[in-house]
Amino acid sequence: MLLLSLLLVGVCFAGVLLVGAPYLPTLKPQITAALDLLDLQPGQTLLELGSGDGAVLLAAAQRGLQVVGIELNPLLVIVARVRTWRYRKQVRIIWGSFWHESWPACDGVFVFLLDRFMPKLDERMQEIGSPLVSVAFRIPNRQAIREQDGVFRYDYAPKDR
Ligand SMILES: C[S@@+](CC[C@H](N)C(=O)[O-])C[C@H]1O[C@@H](n2cnc3c(N)ncnc32)[C@H](O)[C@@H]1O
Repeated sequence: MLLLSLLLVGVCFAGVLLVGAPYLPTLKPQITAALDLLDLQPGQTLLELGSGDGAVLLAAAQRGLQVVGIELNPLLVIVARVRTWRYRKQVRIIWGSFWHESWPACDGVFVFLLDRFMPKLDERMQEIGSPLVSVAFRIPNRQAIREQDGVFRYDYAPKDR
């Protein structure tokens, strides 16, 4: 039973590596920097691609934002749902791959991924045309408009939609 549980946990965390970044918690200074850089107003919607343990969802909800997280790892979906339960009217967590799920209308996007996914993310962002904040990794061949504590903000013009 223990072995089976460990195997399940291993599959949940390692399986994600095939399609995205591994789980690594976002540190508080980076969460604050990202939300400050986006500067969304209460009631506006933040989309987090790979919402992990829900730390970003929680911080955004505490600022009065509506938040949607898309997360592939079902164990992290459960953790994030428990963690954000108090803000359940503002927080929605979708279990699935953000490359396959349709993205809800949003006013800003938060990511903490890996270098190799940034070109594909850049293509998707051009389709939706919204501000993006990326922790640690830059979008290749695109100028960040601001940078704070290792978080980069990019703007995608509405004409790109
Ligand atoms: C670096 S972690 C970011 C964690 C999150 N920001 C936090 O603070 O908990 C990347 C997250 O993206 C998730 N992920 C990776 N690829 C994904 C995909 N294609 N669709 C949905 N989630 C994905 C991982 O499971 C992981 O939780």
